[in-house]
Amino acid sequence: MLQLLHDREPPRVPLANQPTRGHWLRYGADLGARLWIKRDDHTGSELMGNKVRKLEYLMAEALAEQATHVITCGGEQSNHARATAFAAAQLGMKSVLILRTDDPARPPAPTGNILLDRLVGAELVWISRPAWRDRNRLLTEHAERIRAAGGIPYIVPEGGSNALGSWGYIRAMRELALDLDGIASPERPVTVVYACGSGGTGAGLILGAKLLRLADRGIRVAGVNVCDDRAYFVAAIGAICAEAEERWQLGANVTEADIDLVDGHVGLGYAKSRPEELATMRDLCRSDGVVLDPVYTGKAFHGLVTELRADPNRFGSTVAFIHTGGMFGLFSSPETIAQVL
Ligand SMILES: Cc1ncc(COP(=O)(O)O)c(C=O)c1O
Repeated sequence: MLQLLHDREPPRVPLANQPTRGHWLRYGADLGARLWIKRDDHTGSELMGNKVRKLEYLMAEALAEQATHVITCGGEQSNHARATAFAAAQLGMKSVLILRTDDPARPPAPTGNILLDRLVGAELVWISRPAWRDRNRLLTEHAERIRAAGGIPYIVPEGGSNALGSWGYIRAMRELALDLDGIASPERPVTVVYACGSGGTGAGLILGAKLLRLADRGIRVAGVNVCDDRAYFVAAIGAICAEAEERWQLGANVTEADIDLVDGHVGLGYAKSRPEELATMRDLCRSDGVVLDPVYTGKAFHGLVTELRADPNRFGSTVAFIHTGGMFGLFSSPETIAQVL
C-alpha cells in the first residue's frame, strides 16, 4: 500500500513533527458516533498546524530554485502566512507577507499570528479588501521588486494550496490510513472530517484516499467549509486535483463524487464566531483538554457536532477529525472566546 505514493513524490524538506498522534475523545459520548482526533496541531510550535505539511514540498522547491525570499498572502491573522515566515527563517530565507486588512493605513495591533510575523522579521505588506482581488498580481509585483534588487523570489500561493502543496496531505492520508488500521472497516466505516478554508488540505486528503483505495477499507473524507460554499470548493479542490494529475499522472481519477463538503456551517462568515461555536470549543476543551481555534477547527468541529445531533449515522460509526491547528488565532481577540467563559 505505501509504495503507491513514493515514485512520483516530489522532493520534501523535513519541517514538521510527524507522524502526529491521534486519540479518542471523551467529548460527544451522546452523539452516536465515536470521535477520534488526529493532532496536526502538534506538527510544530512556530510551524503548528496543517500548513507546514504543505510547506515541506513548497519550500523544497524554493530551496531547489535557490530562493532568497519567499512571498505569500493571506488574511491579517493568516496561519499560513505565519507558518511560511517561520519556515523561511528556519531555512535561512527572508519572507514577504501580503496581508488583507480593513484599513491598511492603520494596520492591526501585533497580536496572535501578527505578533509572530513581526517577531520573525517578515516584511508585512498591508492591503485592503478590494486590493485583495488583485493578490496574484501583487505577489508577482513583489517578486519582480525582489528580483530587481538582486534576490531570488519564490511565490507560495494562498494557503499553500496548489498541487505541490497538496502532497503534504497525500502524505498525511498515508499516516491516517495506518492510524485507522483496526478502527475502520467496511462494516465499521470511518469519515475523516477536516476544516476546509482554501482547499489544499482537502485535495491532498482526497488524492491520498483515492491512491490508497481507502473507500474499500471503509474510509471516506468530508470537509466542513468555513467560508464560501460547496460549489466553490468542489471547483477549487477539483482544480488542485486536476493540476496534480497533469503534473504527476497519479491515476487517482478524482471526480466530483469524491469531493464531499458539508456545507451550511459558515455561520456569520469567515472568521466571525457565533456563541454556540465558541461554546462547543469551550466544552471540548473542558472534557478533553484540546484547544481548537475559532476560525477553522472550532467552526468545523461545531459543524460536525451539529450534523451528528441531526443524524447520528451521518458519518458512519467513527469520525476521525483532523485538528489542523490555528491556536495562535485565539490570542488575537481574547474577548471573543471570553464571551463563553
Ligand atoms: C488552522 C487551519 N485549519 C484549516 C485550514 C484550512 O486548510 P486549507 O486552506 O488547506 O483548506 C487553515 C487554513 O486555511 C488553517 O489555518
